[in-house]
Amino acid sequence: MRKIAIINQKGGVGKTTTAINIAAGLALREKRVLLIDLDPQGSISTSLKNASQKDINDFFIETLDIRQCTVRLGKNLEFISSKKSLLGTELSMGRARESEFLLKNKMNGVNGYDYIIIDCPPSFNLLTKNAVLYADEAIIPASTDYLGYKGLLNTIDLLKDMNEAYDHNIKTKKVVPTMFDSRNKICRIILDTIKNEFYEISTNPIRMNSKLKEAPRAGKSIFTYDKKSNGAKDYLDVVNMVIQDEA
Ligand SMILES: Nc1ncnc2c1ncn2[C@@H]1O[C@H](COP(=O)(O)OP(=O)(O)O)[C@@H](O)[C@H]1O
Ligand SMILES: [Mg+2]
Repeated sequence: MRKIAIINQKGGVGKTTTAINIAAGLALREKRVLLIDLDPQGSISTSLKNASQKDINDFFIETLDIRQCTVRLGKNLEFISSKKSLLGTELSMGRARESEFLLKNKMNGVNGYDYIIIDCPPSFNLLTKNAVLYADEAIIPASTDYLGYKGLLNTIDLLKDMNEAYDHNIKTKKVVPTMFDSRNKICRIILDTIKNEFYEISTNPIRMNSKLKEAPRAGKSIFTYDKKSNGAKDYLDVVNMVIQDEA
């Protein structure tokens, strides 16, 4: 079972879009996937117009079985939503023992999935720490602009710090350059920089594509919304690269 956190400290870089579409793409490729929304602002839940009756907050706080908290989104794809306020979730978690390890402890013994994909909040809070300390792998989406690139570097540092502080071993398996517009000079420069600096792990870029923006309004992944779009092609390419790492 691969446990992958989709993480970047910066907001608006394509984390949620990447989490949804990697999860949906893996499910299309016959992998059994659980998608966890750890952003209490609930962007996945809004994007997919679908919420589990019990959310991630309930899962953390109550003694619930994972099956009571998931909703089925499609063949091979299950989802735990997040809807409570950030404050509420963090407060109630902060009171718990080993609050950084709640997710890891609660997920102990959960099996039956090939992939757990976790969408992280855009800040480094207790929820993000929980994701990092549970996951074995990180995928970092970075928008192809200066701030996205900065966010990428900060996130790499942060993961290193977490590994040292907690004797943990999360590995950055992929950097996904997002919102790429080949006509834009900054996009080209940042893409080159990312590809040079992270040549072993950077994927092909996800192009700027309006279909990726529209799909959440329809409550769909890009593959069900418009499978012929550039967004679908680009994310399928990333999904295939993620699967290749299984070997
Ligand atoms: N490749 C893309 N092309 C066009 N719009 C995109 C693309 N990737 C993401 N977006 C849009 O950009 C916004 C921010 O993306 P999102 O995935 O929510 O970022 P984050 O989760 O990092 O805050 C959303 O409106 C999303 O639809
Ligand atoms: Mg998000």
